[in-house]
Amino acid sequence: MAKSTTRFVCQSCGAVYGKWAGRCEACGAWNSIAEEAAPAASSPQGKALANGRVIDFVSLQGVGEPVARRETGIGELDRVSGGGLVAGSVLLVGGDPGIGKSTLLLQAAAQLALKAAKCAYVSGEESVDQVRLRARRLGFEQAPVDLAAAMNLRDIIATLDVAQPPDVVIIDSIQTMYLDSLDSAPGTVSQVRACAHELIRLAKRRGFVLFLVGHVTKEGTLAGPRVVEHMVDTVLYFEGERGHHFRILRAVKNRFGATDEIGVFEMTDGGLGEVANPSALFLAERRGNVAGSCVFAGLEGSRPVLVEIQALVAPSSLGTPRRAVVGWDSSRLSMLLAVLEARCGIAFGGHDVYLNVAGGLKISEPAADLAVACAVLSSFSGVPAPADIVVFGEIGLSGEVRAVAQPDLRLKEAAKLGFASALMPRRLRTGGRKASPPEGITPREVGHAQDVVALFPAANAPGRKEEPKA
Ligand code: TYD
Ligand code: MG
Repeated sequence: MAKSTTRFVCQSCGAVYGKWAGRCEACGAWNSIAEEAAPAASSPQGKALANGRVIDFVSLQGVGEPVARRETGIGELDRVSGGGLVAGSVLLVGGDPGIGKSTLLLQAAAQLALKAAKCAYVSGEESVDQVRLRARRLGFEQAPVDLAAAMNLRDIIATLDVAQPPDVVIIDSIQTMYLDSLDSAPGTVSQVRACAHELIRLAKRRGFVLFLVGHVTKEGTLAGPRVVEHMVDTVLYFEGERGHHFRILRAVKNRFGATDEIGVFEMTDGGLGEVANPSALFLAERRGNVAGSCVFAGLEGSRPVLVEIQALVAPSSLGTPRRAVVGWDSSRLSMLLAVLEARCGIAFGGHDVYLNVAGGLKISEPAADLAVACAVLSSFSGVPAPADIVVFGEIGLSGEVRAVAQPDLRLKEAAKLGFASALMPRRLRTGGRKASPPEGITPREVGHAQDVVALFPAANAPGRKEEPKA
């Protein structure tokens, strides 16, 4: 019986169907299923599996060589990759178009090349001249990087599969590469997956560091298959707001280091500069003594970062007041407002609430609750929060202030930047030890959201309901 030669593949999750459908049942995406040529069945199963070799199992004990790491010379990139690049490892760098992926990797390649590493930069998106122009702009035109513009994977593999391959190979981007043995267009799931697979196998076999650049779709996931994320050792996301000049490189997966690590960069005329002290950058434009502003002592990976949280609570003319959030979770804000309303008797019903994390950072930590509450209450009451105070703590649904991870790290960073006190949870994490606060900073411990309300006495003025009976 002749087998059908096409199949239908979801372009966002890679699920395969026998016929077209409007919605992928596996991931729920609409209009993501496209027709592709089915891969030729190479060998009848069973027969191919008959003569395998018996593998030897070993114990967990034993000493392997410690992994040698190659430092790129870009400290923030090294930090995110877990202390340098491991030979034979594959890193996927994702991010919106124009965010600076090519710039970052060209800078890394140039720095490595200047340190006598052999680096190859294969661009599928830009011409050789365009990359050269960028190199000149970055001041790296002298760096001995091997540059090529190519898209055909067969040629790229032939070039790299040699006895002396480069130490570091950069493929910019994986979506532009294609295997001519597949019928589908570049950028489709099967192309991206097959190209990534071939390149990764080669990198492991020849022992070079492979960087794959991947684009991010409007929905915020890597375009094409998520499967590439599973195939690589490290997934780095390069993020940042278009209007802001700083960029954050975030490790979301790392087989050779910690995840949630961030590197902070600043986009300048001369390329990406490292930001060694991000807190100072995020707080640079802060104006003291303004109602509705408050400094949150956050944690990004192992790194404390202080950011300003701004809130604006204004009387609303709408039936349903507006809640708008930039840089934080909007449902978290709704929850927090509900807690303040139900547990502390503050009514926001007639007010619009706007929340902004200054500088364009995106915060995902629940530890920001207390700082958001402070900013909102401060704006609502018109009373500025003390300028020299940092705030952190999670707020639970009954209004209790819950413990957060690593309070001492946050306090240390705050002390370093000259803050005098910290509004923080009274409770400790289970198993946590009470560390003595660093010199110069006075902890002000709170146990309930009520305690925060008490800091802003005028919050009971405009729309405040009656105090609930304790
Ligand atoms: P690019 O690295 O091309 O982004 P990606 O590869 O992620 O698509 O970044 C391009 C942007 O960076 C572009 O908008 C211009 C800006 N840029 C600078 O501001 N300064 C520089 O020195 C360079 C090289 C780029
Ligand atoms: Mg690019």
